[in-house]
Amino acid sequence: MKAAVYYKNGGPEVLQYEDVPDPVCPPDGVLIDIEVISVEGGDTIHRSMVPLPRVPNIVGYQAAGTVREVGANVKNRRVGQRVVAVLENGSHAEKVVARPEFTWIVPDGADLTPLACVPVAFGTAHEALFDLGGLTKGQKVLVHAGGSGVGLAAIQLAKAVGAVVLTTASSDDKLARLREFGADYAINYKTTSFKDEVAKAVGTVDLVVDPIGGKTLQDSVEVLKYKGRIVNLGRAGRDSGAFDPYPLWLRNGSLHGLHLLFGSASHELARFQGVISECIERVARGELRVVVDRKFALADAAQAHAHIEQRSAFGRVVMLP
Ligand SMILES: NC(=O)c1ccc[n+]([C@@H]2O[C@H](COP(=O)([O-])OP(=O)(O)OC[C@H]3O[C@@H](n4cnc5c(N)ncnc54)[C@H](OP(=O)(O)O)[C@@H]3O)[C@@H](O)[C@H]2O)c1
Repeated sequence: MKAAVYYKNGGPEVLQYEDVPDPVCPPDGVLIDIEVISVEGGDTIHRSMVPLPRVPNIVGYQAAGTVREVGANVKNRRVGQRVVAVLENGSHAEKVVARPEFTWIVPDGADLTPLACVPVAFGTAHEALFDLGGLTKGQKVLVHAGGSGVGLAAIQLAKAVGAVVLTTASSDDKLARLREFGADYAINYKTTSFKDEVAKAVGTVDLVVDPIGGKTLQDSVEVLKYKGRIVNLGRAGRDSGAFDPYPLWLRNGSLHGLHLLFGSASHELARFQGVISECIERVARGELRVVVDRKFALADAAQAHAHIEQRSAFGRVVMLP
């Protein structure tokens, strides 16, 4: 099969489109013919800075397609079903092996492309807002990187429960679009101080959802109300500066980490599966929206990653094998 592989960490240019051996379906797995690859923010982080688990490596957390082969021990999937799969790696290819418990059946007649983008972004946003963040109607939440996959999901999920939503992004174009998705306050953190803008708009917030990390995470403590919560789930800012917890003490605040796969899915599989199923159904019903920013051929994986890293994407970039 063809795949976008890399031999060393680096910029998007390390991705090469090559022939690699087809994956073999194990007794406990399913083999999927990939039709849509959702390029996750984590895929770009892996390619640039996470040590390679194998050489060459095929990165990729998420893809959708048709089940081609079912392992002998798998009873709840069959050949021909359309599924979306969450993976530890391997989405940037024509075929992938998935664990059946990390696959969700795509509702009949539903468009595969938006649903290919649902589990990681919406599942992570849901976990951050509700399971860890405890967000309820009327509370105020600040969602950083509103134009990201996780950010757009978080804004919509928070609005749906009646929260007041503030969000940040790096450009006024993104911010204008975020207002259309329900953001009550949209803050350009490049041209203003988000701390000042939050203070002017609402004073303090109950919850911050932070996929950025570094200085953004540190500064977020200062917009928290007494006993406010931060859920940090990413380091999209590529800034791994140390975190000083002292400002949290001053407001009895809390900081949660979140990992959808190694946290939620590993420790509460059934609840995790239910959260994702619910998000898929809500997107299929049109209640929640996925924004597909651009489609690239898998052969152009380097351009797809570069487009994301240039901060040009709003929502999800997908690739088609
Ligand atoms: N812990 C988990 O389980 C989990 C699950 C999903 C995602 N994540 C992490 O959460 C983060 C967001 O994921 P995503 O899939 O939503 O990402 P995404 O769609 O690729 O968006 C990333 C966002 O980060 C912002 N950003 C800030 N600095 C950036 C930089 N130097 N390069 C690129 N983007 C930068 C950009 O917004 P602006 O231009 O507006 O700043 C961009 O919209 C990633 O770090 C990902 O690894 C973690």
